[in-house]
Amino acid sequence: MSGILLQIDGKQVEASEGMTVLEAAQSAGISIPTLCHHEKLAPFGACRMCIVETESGGRKKLVAACVSPVEKSWVVSTRSEKIDRFRKTLLELMLAHAPNSPPLQDLAREYGADKDRLEKEASFCIHCGLCVRYCAEVKQKHAVGFIDRGVRKEISFLPEIASKECHSCKECFPLCPTSYLQAAFVLVEAFAPAR
Ligand code: SF4
Ligand code: FES
Repeated sequence: MSGILLQIDGKQVEASEGMTVLEAAQSAGISIPTLCHHEKLAPFGACRMCIVETESGGRKKLVAACVSPVEKSWVVSTRSEKIDRFRKTLLELMLAHAPNSPPLQDLAREYGADKDRLEKEASFCIHCGLCVRYCAEVKQKHAVGFIDRGVRKEISFLPEIASKECHSCKECFPLCPTSYLQAAFVLVEAFAPAR
């Protein structure tokens, strides 16, 4: 296995070929905020909270750390005025949908995001996809999925699968950064065929 040397927040880090920037940072004890990442799931790159700045040959670019493989000699910054501003804006957008989410509120404090800056459009799901991907990739049940597209996209349980599988599982519940998943499940329960 060939090592790839790069710098993250001024620290020399040796990563393995194919590692993502997020994994390399974590291996060096450097924390990058994530909302859609889970180590058991394939990288998804949905939330963009893990955006970092890379510099190579004088060229700088913003990349999502959870889906970007490390490259030799990269100089990576995980915090800067630009990155913090980006995360603050993202958080304000997400908080308009899920203002009471504890993980979002914690991040909002860290990045100075104002949960009341944007008009509320409470849909409660921030489309991180953790529940959908966990059910498909780890449990291989596909009991929950996305329906519709764009701003109308939302998660939905499939009653015929959920009524058989979800009661004894519920492993996706603690993954949800908002309370929406549980609420949606309670709703589907009300309409599910009797078990
Ligand atoms: S319900 Fe929760 S876990 Fe599922 S996609 Fe929405 S925010 Fe993510
Ligand atoms: S954690 Fe990287 S895009 Fe969500």
